[in-house]
Formats: sequence, C-alpha cells, structure tokens
Amino acid sequence: YQKLDDFPKNFLWGAASAAYQIEGAYNEDGKGPSIWDTYAHTEGNTYKGTNGDVAIDHYHHLEEDVGLMAKMGLKAYRFSVAWSRVIPDGEGEVNQAGLDFYIRLVKLLKENQIEPVLTLYHWDLPQALQDKYLGWESRKTVAAFAKYCRVLFETFKDDVKYWVTFNEQNVFTGLGYRWGNHPPKVTDIKRMYAANHIVNLANATAINLFHEMVPKGLIGPSFGYGPVYPLTGDPNDVLASVNADDFNNNWWLDVYCRGEYPYFMMKRLQAMGIAPEVTAADQKLLKSAKPDFLGINYYHGGTVQTNRLQKKVAADDKKDFSSTDPYLMQPKEDQAQSPEIPMFNSVSSPYLEKTEWGWEIDPIGFRVALRQVYEKYRLPIFVTENGLGAADQLVDGQVNDDYRIKYLADHVLTMKEAITDGVEMIGYCAWSFSDLLSWLNGYRKRYGFVYVDRDDDGPKELKRIPKASYYWYQKLIADNGADV
Ligand code: BG6
Repeated sequence: YQKLDDFPKNFLWGAASAAYQIEGAYNEDGKGPSIWDTYAHTEGNTYKGTNGDVAIDHYHHLEEDVGLMAKMGLKAYRFSVAWSRVIPDGEGEVNQAGLDFYIRLVKLLKENQIEPVLTLYHWDLPQALQDKYLGWESRKTVAAFAKYCRVLFETFKDDVKYWVTFNEQNVFTGLGYRWGNHPPKVTDIKRMYAANHIVNLANATAINLFHEMVPKGLIGPSFGYGPVYPLTGDPNDVLASVNADDFNNNWWLDVYCRGEYPYFMMKRLQAMGIAPEVTAADQKLLKSAKPDFLGINYYHGGTVQTNRLQKKVAADDKKDFSSTDPYLMQPKEDQAQSPEIPMFNSVSSPYLEKTEWGWEIDPIGFRVALRQVYEKYRLPIFVTENGLGAADQLVDGQVNDDYRIKYLADHVLTMKEAITDGVEMIGYCAWSFSDLLSWLNGYRKRYGFVYVDRDDDGPKELKRIPKASYYWYQKLIADNGADV
C-alpha cells in the first residue's frame, strides 16, 4: 500500500472537442470546404452518410455550451480551429468572420476562468490544398500551414497559453494514406510515410515559429499512444512487441522529442524501398524544434504476437464501422496483413474487457503509458484525450452513464498513481465535453458529459442535457481529484 500524492494544485481538469465534430455551419460566414466535408458528402464513406454539416451546431450554441462548461467548473477546454474557416482556400486571404468565431470563444472561456487549449490541426485540411497540391504530399502545404499558424499565433498570443500542433498524426496518416478509410482515401504505404514526413516538417516549422512569436506560451503535438504488450513470454512475441512499439509509437515520438527517426525501423523501411526522403535540411529542422510538452491521447494499448511462425491472428469481434483500429494501424481479419511489414500481428488481449465498440478497456495501461513516455522523453505530459464511446440512452429526460463514470474514475485513479510514481503532468482533458460526431460512426457513439439530443437521421432540436457523468466530474474538479 502506498499513499497517493495529491494532484498538483493547478492541475488542468478539462474536456476536449474538435471543430468538424461539433461546429456545424460548414459553409457559413465564408468558411471554405475541408477534406472532411468532401469525404463525408461522398456516399458510402460514413455510417448512414452522417456528416458534420450541422454536427451539434456549436457554432450557433457557443454561449450555451461555454455556460455549461463554466457551471461544471471546467479548468481547461481543448478545441480545434477549422483551418478553412479562417483561411478558406488554405493559403490566401484571412476570413475575418471565421476568425471572429474563435475570438469570441476564447474571450468567453477567459471570462469564465477556463484555460483555452487550442489545437491547430484536427484532421480538417482545406480542400483547396488537397486539390492544388495533393495536401500533405507536398511541401507547399507546409508553407500554407505556417501562414495559417502565423495568423493564429498573432491573434491569440496574449490569450492562449497551451497550443497543440497536430492531433494524432499517427491516426490520420495511417487511416488516410494506408488504410484509405479517412480522406484522402489513399492505400499506399509509401505515400503514407512520405506524407507523414511532410507533416513532421509542418510540426517542426510551427513549433519554431511559435517559439519566436509566443515566447510565453507552450506548444506540443497530441499523439495517440498505446503501450504494446507481448501476448506471451515467448521471446518471439517479446521481439514482436519491440517491433510494434517502434512501428506504432517511436516512429512518431522520437521525431517529435529527439528530432530523429528511430534507427532500426528506418533501416528496415529503407530496405523495403518505402522510407520517406529526408534531406539534410529536413534533419536539421527536425532537430531544431523542441516541443514544450507532449499531448497524449489514451484510449487503449494493444497486444501482439509473433508472425515469424505464421501463427494465425485471433479473430477479432470489433464492430467499429471503421475497418481498422486507429491506434495500432492493424487491419481486421477481413483485410490481408500487410506483406511489407512482417514484424508482428495484433491480437485481442485475453485479459481485457471491451467497450460496445470493441475498444479494450485498460486503465492500468494508462499508467504504463504515462510512465513509458515520461521515462523516455522527460517532457511534461498533458493528457489531451481519454474517454468512453457508448450508445447512451435518454430515459425520462436523463442519461445515467454510470459505466462512463466508472471508466473515467478508473483512469483518473491510475493517472494519480502515475503522478505518485513521478510523472510530471499538466492536465487531463476527457474526450469529450459534449456528444459529437464520431467521424465514421455517426452520432450513436457518444462520448460527452453533455448529451445532445440528435441522432443519425437528423439534428432534431439539439437540446443539451447534462448526464450523470457531468455532475460526477463537477465534483471531482471541485475536490481536485481527492476522492478517486
Ligand atoms: C481520437 C480523435 O482518435 O479518438 C477524436 O482524436 C475521436 O477526434 C476519438 O473522436 C474517438 O474516436 P471515435 O472513432 O470513436 O470517434
């Protein structure tokens, strides 16, 4: 038995969202289309054709939504800016009406003592940049991103302290360029590594620019991290887990935090002819950019076994609409294992329960994740997402999501244990503040503290109803997590 440390006094208890998933108003006040507008408007790409045209209409419910955050006692709110709302074609004129929306949001948050945490990129690339340059496959998009960042840094340098560059680069490059179930729907691993490298350059460019323009602020990427477990103690499985850790985690984190690609994996990709082209100038740029903190999005880790003995992958009963697991970038059994990367096979853990959507529930893995990342990189950690997707039901005007309370309480407890272990942490943003569009899964997969009364067939009246978890989190914040 060990007495747990208290959460730090100024710990930022928060909640998160992303522009495309909540804002709606997809073509209002001069906003340009993003690749997600195009993708979700194309038949067959999302569950029941759901899209973010209206989403939960946060654009027109701003005061009400921030009012609910304030009433809850939220200390931080993580949101993303829609690039094509601010610069409709991605690189040209600034759309003042679009920028004004975020100015109003930040002002409202500050008036209510809620720390804004601004994400620059949560997947909604301006469509114009995709059309003109092939998006992240061109270095011209890095220049466009720098211009967009400059506008936001200039506008918010005095009011926003915490900034996130890219949300889950591992997920949007994997799903967008390898598995082809996110825009731009490419299925080519070589192009994935090439696009990913360009995003790395954009990340480093933005961080350096930020440090020039916003010396008092703090910036870092948000990474979708999962610890990797070997299925057994068989050294073959252990080796597979070392490979998977390189493949799933180090490939991104080493670049962010050490400014270089992991050596073994680079060697392997080069031998396969699928490594990105990295110039000497690129290397220098990556080395020069130092994040101030690391954002970690934690949902679950993954278990792997060797594929050297041609063991079969255990059948997986996930019912997620998306055809891959975004966190381990492994196909389901209906897709062939990639022949190019025979390093490991992903399997279900025999030890862990799963959510309704087949995501493993692993609070201990959260402590493992925080320990691993802090041990390796020694950067303060900001948990920028963690939460449970479930098909919540509104019964007699109430949502009793006690399963979500249990999920979050279990994770908050292991986070407290990690802090007691010595991990330096800035805050914790639960995913999500309110229900929102779950990209490919429509509106039935809910994550919020606040229920939004809409479904996959239409927006209905979009009434906001705090769930039981809202009141639980309100109390937890008031006690600074003393009772977990
Ligand atoms: C993360 C994203 O991958 O997980 C969020 O940053 C997303 O935007 C969340 O909503 C949950 O994923 P999903 O597919 O269940 O909505």
